[in-house]
Amino acid sequence: MPDAYILGIESSCDETAAAVVRSGEQLISNIVASQIATHQPYGGVVPELASREHLRAIVPVVRQALAEANHTYDAVDAIAVTQGPGLAGALLVGISYAKALAFALDKPLIAVNHLEGHIHAVLLEERQKGNRELQFPVQALVVSGGHTHLYLAEEKDGGWTYENIGHTRDDAAGEAFDKVAKLLGLGYPGGPVIDRLAPHGDPKAVRFPPAQIKHRDRRDRHDGRDLSPDDDQPRFDFSYSGIKTAILRYVEAHEMAASIAARRNALAGMAKPKLEDYLGHCDKQCLDLVASFQRAVVHDLVEKTLAAAAAYDVAALFVTGGVAANNELRQTFEREGARQGLPVYFPSRPLSTDNAAMIAAAAYPKFLARDFAPMDFSAEAGLVLR
Ligand code: KG4
Ligand code: ZN
Repeated sequence: MPDAYILGIESSCDETAAAVVRSGEQLISNIVASQIATHQPYGGVVPELASREHLRAIVPVVRQALAEANHTYDAVDAIAVTQGPGLAGALLVGISYAKALAFALDKPLIAVNHLEGHIHAVLLEERQKGNRELQFPVQALVVSGGHTHLYLAEEKDGGWTYENIGHTRDDAAGEAFDKVAKLLGLGYPGGPVIDRLAPHGDPKAVRFPPAQIKHRDRRDRHDGRDLSPDDDQPRFDFSYSGIKTAILRYVEAHEMAASIAARRNALAGMAKPKLEDYLGHCDKQCLDLVASFQRAVVHDLVEKTLAAAAAYDVAALFVTGGVAANNELRQTFEREGARQGLPVYFPSRPLSTDNAAMIAAAAYPKFLARDFAPMDFSAEAGLVLR
């Protein structure tokens, strides 16, 4: 099989990204334009602003990805783009541009599920390291700002299929990081800040009750009937809105409002606060709360994921998505995975968060299968991975 160079384009949320990947196994170039500065004043992603920023960035980002790959438009074999899930307006920018390129260059167009992309970020880097001996079945935890999803991933005749065996009932883990950081006046995005502050607090200082999941998830029902055969299989669902509320109560009970407002004001005046700036505006109470929150979320993610891995007797575990960049999460998964005799694979940190290399990598099996998207395909904000 000759080499195939796929240009990937990603615009599902707040990063405009383009990358060139060779045959799903070698990253040639990887450009990510972050919109953090745009959304920071609002404490979260503003969809309309995200679309506008994607429009501004898409052409230069794609050009830079090709320039760094030393590639011309003509030398690309296919164009892959994120179809969903994500913000509809944001997705449309990437999709429209990918369609225009594919049409003008007469190249095949490949639609990729963003979550499948996160899973293929791991595969891309393992292949790049020369690891082709991956054991199946594989379980993947996709843990990002919008998703906390567990899948069993299978490769059959070159194509991949995914079975969802658990997902969040409410907030995703990354969303909880972002909301808690916002609540504590630490700014946006919350995950990287909490990650850096947590080692400076006592993770045992505040105890949170474990997440309670009592009722069946209505989303598991289909046409009024329970889905089968999943029905008799164990599910491993997550819930992170309870811990966010517990933090809110703690903040109220301990009268932290004034110190939070002071921190928010101080940090808002800084373009790019450094760790010392955060530490200079956090007292012990805040650091302990941050450390305890991170410990509780990490513990819950690791415990449920490893319980699922044992129940499904999987041979390998992938942990991917923005939250997979978290230090404590990586260390805990590695330690507890080893205890269970389970190899755990992460993407490198740059490929854990949103990027287009993962989209180009996930497109490669579809390229081989000639699974091309029609020119009239559209964005799907709630696209499901199967
Ligand atoms: O995968 P991603 O870049 O975008 C989505 O698909 O959502 O994930 C972004 C999420 C955000 O919620 C962000 O706070 C979180 O990942 N995140 C982290 C870290 N880096 C990013 N969470 C915890 N620790 C980190 N180091
Ligand atoms: Zn993502």
